[in-house]
Amino acid sequence: MIRILVDPFPSDEALRSLWLKAWERRGPGSFQSILSRSLAHVGAYDDQTLVGFVNVAWDGGIHAFIVDTCVDPNHRRKGVASQMLKTAEEAARSRGAEWLHVDYEARLALLYESCGFHPTPAGLIALGA
Ligand SMILES: CC(C)(COP(=O)(O)OP(=O)(O)OC[C@H]1O[C@@H](n2cnc3c(N)ncnc32)[C@H](O)[C@@H]1OP(=O)(O)O)[C@@H](O)C(=O)NCCC(=O)NCCS
Repeated sequence: MIRILVDPFPSDEALRSLWLKAWERRGPGSFQSILSRSLAHVGAYDDQTLVGFVNVAWDGGIHAFIVDTCVDPNHRRKGVASQMLKTAEEAARSRGAEWLHVDYEARLALLYESCGFHPTPAGLIALGA
């Protein structure tokens, strides 16, 4: 059974391992400074192993932002991301955020819309490109 936890503060090692599987890249040098700035984060655990992650970034006010939604390929299409997103929504609301934003590729519209996100026009610049 998968456990969904708010603010589990996974180690860099656990996050790196998940990142390599889910994103096929290493991710940030250290995750800890990112977690410390978040309004919340959500982890999905299979026993002691981190198999899913959602970060809720924050502007310090009423806006919170879902980033880095990912699930280990061996645990996909079982509702893990959906459970994490609902938990992230509850955490953001209970901590005072009034708007929860996310951007995503069109292929993932069903995932986010089934979790209650309404599509809006949004903008994005790839600053590293
Ligand atoms: C996207 C991702 C987080 C989905 O995780 P998941 O746990 O498999 O998602 P869920 O099981 O909660 O999916 C719920 C519904 O969302 C939709 N969905 C999920 N993954 C999808 C995909 N890859 N393509 C299209 N629809 C998808 C489906 O409608 C699914 O319901 P179904 O399985 O009954 O068809 C996972 O595939 C992942 O980590 N991908 C790589 C990282 C990534 O692209 N993250 C998205 C950042 S915006």
